[in-house]
Amino acid sequence: MTERIDLDGTRVAGRMPVAIDTLAGRIVLDVPSGCQPVTPASIVAIRGVAAHLGRLSGIGIDWGAGTGGLAIAAALGRAVERVIAVDVEAANLVATAANAASNGVGAKVVTVHADGFTPLDAAAADVLAGLDGRVGFVVANPPGCVDDDGLGWRRHVLAEAAALLRRGAPVLLQISRQYGRARITELAGSGLPYRYDGCVAESGWEPFDLARSELAELVHRYAAVERSGGGSYVFRVGTGAEARDAPAVAAIEAYEATGASPLTRWQLHLFRRT
Ligand SMILES: C[S@@+](CC[C@H](N)C(=O)[O-])C[C@H]1O[C@@H](n2cnc3c(N)ncnc32)[C@H](O)[C@@H]1O
Repeated sequence: MTERIDLDGTRVAGRMPVAIDTLAGRIVLDVPSGCQPVTPASIVAIRGVAAHLGRLSGIGIDWGAGTGGLAIAAALGRAVERVIAVDVEAANLVATAANAASNGVGAKVVTVHADGFTPLDAAAADVLAGLDGRVGFVVANPPGCVDDDGLGWRRHVLAEAAALLRRGAPVLLQISRQYGRARITELAGSGLPYRYDGCVAESGWEPFDLARSELAELVHRYAAVERSGGGSYVFRVGTGAEARDAPAVAAIEAYEATGASPLTRWQLHLFRRT
């Protein structure tokens, strides 16, 4: 079942602590200067993980932990022994450790400085050693990729995690609606050992805020993919009776004409290791 998540009234992306109410309780994230901001996509992912704790057990990994929201949500699961929070930016890991402690799960969250699952120091190598086939789940809200169709980091997470995950283990991956169902389901069909089990949490219609430079860069990348015949993206443009799905090229044209960002839904999708 898809959990519908209302983002209204949620404070997002500031440097002040961000409070996120989830089905497993309130998670408060401090976001120090220089750390990864908490975005609407983060909040849907955090609340989606908290709504699906019954699927999580054993040792899990939060790939690209940022300030730790997904790791903390997962650590609230009764059957979860430990969550390994991985990030390439050391400052994020300091924030994750502090946030895990202040949310009462410090003993269950282990921070690891790594590029993906490749350790960047000896302590990380120790934590990541010997995990092949023993990991019970992965949660991730990876960055968008500007070198390909946008999903490169998601493919990378699924590919890297395959050796670590035990059979049947879930991967809860943040992927937003604008990628289109075909691209999302194909992530499980591109030679990787996964089955796609659907969208398990999503926001209402939210602006894909083209005033944010990283999102503007992504949408222009999507348009380039469409122009080269790589398949359409799916944004919602227009309002009321005029609302319709539109590809990235048309979404950019509508933004330039009206100043209104196109809409998407922030979503969390479930894959299973086969
Ligand atoms: C979109 S942010 C999500 C942060 C957090 N999970 C959240 O939802 O708020 C992506 C995170 O991935 C981290 N990251 C990017 N490349 C990485 C890599 N190669 N290995 C590990 N982490 C990486 C970034 O530092 C950042 O914290």
